[in-house]
Amino acid sequence: MNNVFQSRNKARTTVYHLRDVTRDRASEGVTFRLRVPSLQIAQGEKIALIGESGCGKSTLLDMLAFISQPSDIASFRFRPEQDKDAIDITRLWKKRQMNRLSELRKRHIGYVMQTGGLLPYLSVRENIALSRSVLGLGKDDTVESLAHELGIARHLDKLPETLSVGERQRVAIGRALSHQPSIVIADEPTASVDPFAAEKIMSLFIGLAEERNITVVVASHAWRHIKRLGLRRLAHHTHRSKDGRTTETVVNG
Ligand SMILES: Nc1ncnc2c1ncn2[C@@H]1O[C@H](COP(=O)(O)OP(=O)(O)OP(=O)(O)O)[C@@H](O)[C@H]1O
Ligand SMILES: [Mg+2]
Repeated sequence: MNNVFQSRNKARTTVYHLRDVTRDRASEGVTFRLRVPSLQIAQGEKIALIGESGCGKSTLLDMLAFISQPSDIASFRFRPEQDKDAIDITRLWKKRQMNRLSELRKRHIGYVMQTGGLLPYLSVRENIALSRSVLGLGKDDTVESLAHELGIARHLDKLPETLSVGERQRVAIGRALSHQPSIVIADEPTASVDPFAAEKIMSLFIGLAEERNITVVVASHAWRHIKRLGLRRLAHHTHRSKDGRTTETVVNG
């Protein structure tokens, strides 16, 4: 009883702390700017970024996964391990420490890509195991038990192209979880299936993350079923200039 009480009251550490971070993207005379005045995500939190196509969801997620470099940063701290100090991401980008950034991503983050991103020449089993093998983690029953929980165990020895789109998304979720990351970033993980299947896959995904106390950041067009799963929605506003040449999205949370 005492332990439950203590763990409930234990202050949760902040995994992401961003202040005044921006990313500019320009193509053919049209400029897009994502601006994050302040964002804090606590360990174990489930966050949703909901917005129309082109508002900057993938841009934000790619910054949180250290895939794309911000154009300007006042402060960007990342603390994936509660018993260790926060890591200064600003410094790593400034010093071009790409290996360290990629190491942090591989070890602590699972990423479910908007396009699935499965490797077509690897079996479902090998695709799910990929995030483990890049870290040199040994073989155990993680892949099989995840496949079982995701309802795709019977497909383990097949190639992704023989699976339905919804089944492939389950494989992508399995791959994002198999190396037991403390954070999972999911970019519209259910965008290409019907709303009923989307809701089922999303609740399966959030359930698995909750059991493992994983911090989740998910981007989606659809707020309705995500709200039911208890995610915190990030506030954002998009402004377009009159001539349509510049768009700015401001995210706070
Ligand atoms: N490779 C790129 N080069 C230049 N500008 C880009 C590039 N990709 C996206 N953009 C710009 O950045 C803006 C935000 O794109 P982003 O992909 O983050 O949107 P999104 O919210 O993820 O959209 P969707 O829901 O369609 O995935 C777009 O409106 C576009 O103008
Ligand atoms: Mg996107």
